[in-house]
Amino acid sequence: MKIMEMFFPRPRLAAALLGILTTLIVLYLLNTSNKDVYINILEPGTYRNNDKNIKFEIFFDIKNFHYILNARKCENNTKINALIIVTSYFGNVETRSAMRRAFSEEDLKQINLKRVFLLGVAPSDQYTRQVSVQNENKRFGDIIQGNFIEAYRNLTYKHVMGLRWAAQNCFNVDFIIKMDDDTVVNVEQLPKLLKSLKTPKSQNFIAGYVLRNMLAIREPANKWYVTQDEYSLPMYPTFVSGWFYITNPNTAEKIYKLSQITKYFWIDDTFVSGILAQKLKVKHYDISKYYAEHSEYMECCLDDIRSKNLNCDVLVGPNGGNNNLFYEFNNAVGICNLHLCKNRTKPLKETCVAKKFVHLGRGKPQVHNYKLH
Ligand SMILES: *[C@@H]1O[C@H](CO)[C@@H](O)[C@H](O)[C@H]1NC(C)=O
Ligand SMILES: *[C@@H]1O[C@H](CO)[C@@H](O)[C@H](O)[C@H]1NC(C)=O
Ligand SMILES: *[C@@H]1O[C@H](CO)[C@@H](O)[C@H](O)[C@H]1NC(C)=O
Repeated sequence: MKIMEMFFPRPRLAAALLGILTTLIVLYLLNTSNKDVYINILEPGTYRNNDKNIKFEIFFDIKNFHYILNARKCENNTKINALIIVTSYFGNVETRSAMRRAFSEEDLKQINLKRVFLLGVAPSDQYTRQVSVQNENKRFGDIIQGNFIEAYRNLTYKHVMGLRWAAQNCFNVDFIIKMDDDTVVNVEQLPKLLKSLKTPKSQNFIAGYVLRNMLAIREPANKWYVTQDEYSLPMYPTFVSGWFYITNPNTAEKIYKLSQITKYFWIDDTFVSGILAQKLKVKHYDISKYYAEHSEYMECCLDDIRSKNLNCDVLVGPNGGNNNLFYEFNNAVGICNLHLCKNRTKPLKETCVAKKFVHLGRGKPQVHNYKLH
């Protein structure tokens, strides 16, 4: 005490100052040590973030998440430009087969691409058994299956699982392409499209069909009906369509990690490329000029190539329920990719008179010709 008094004539004030200083140091340390810390697991539960003393829920409500089937990883010494992750329903054997028929693993390798399919489990599927999917993976080595039940409202699990797998197993690729198995893509034109993006390697980005100012739908009868509890704001942040988008492993890693400490939302593209991307300040690039919004456009393009040798100016579109369209389309555009087609004088969307099948309830469906939009 004597010595203390020698240096600090007013010990109470000194103690108070020391206390304040200690508090400031502790606060500073807590603040800095807590930057970008995420729990790197997918198991569900409530976790305590020690530094901040905040509890948060891990969104995966699946017990002991694990891969039931795992695809061949990217080899370290093979240069892959882009990994394509395809969300695919367990029972869509035919669709996967059409995609492999259009481009085998070898064919894709030639243009520095690799493809894997993302599946859940469907124990009660009428036509497809787990053992046949197992055999499919034995043969092709391109299936990633998580232990969650296939369901519309579980698509976010599947989507995040794909980004996680890509970031962890193919971190050397330049790009990750996410698409659905009912999306048709002109595969041979992908390298050119990727090259045209000109995104710096370190940048976090998502390129796709950008959707802005989309309102959350509050009509219970609507397929996209969302309760206040699920999503409380009236409008979604800017996001891209999950049909087809392009990102990179850096972005994918940040997204899947953040997804684990963010409240689950079942509309997967809105969640991943909107809600999470917004928090991470991921930049959106709009490449919607390459998309056809209706499958009729794709059919139209196909007809024009076959009958008029006209080039197809869209690269991405829906298959409209035709499982084989991916194959047919890529087969047809192959000719144009060899520069053997004529350029269009008018864009497809201005000239397409599509066939629309209108089912009138009785008898055969009638074919109506109509001009889109
Ligand atoms: C590829 O590289 C990573 C990191 O450098 C390493 O952990 C992994 O074992 C390698 N894989 C193979 C198949 O060599
Ligand atoms: C989603 O998957 C989980 C885990 O398998 C399952 O318990 C749940 O019922 C699934 N959701 C729906 C809507 O089927
Ligand atoms: C078609 O258009 C592309 C650019 O859009 C051009 O490079 C090419 O030369 C054109 N081909 C013909 C046959 O006019």
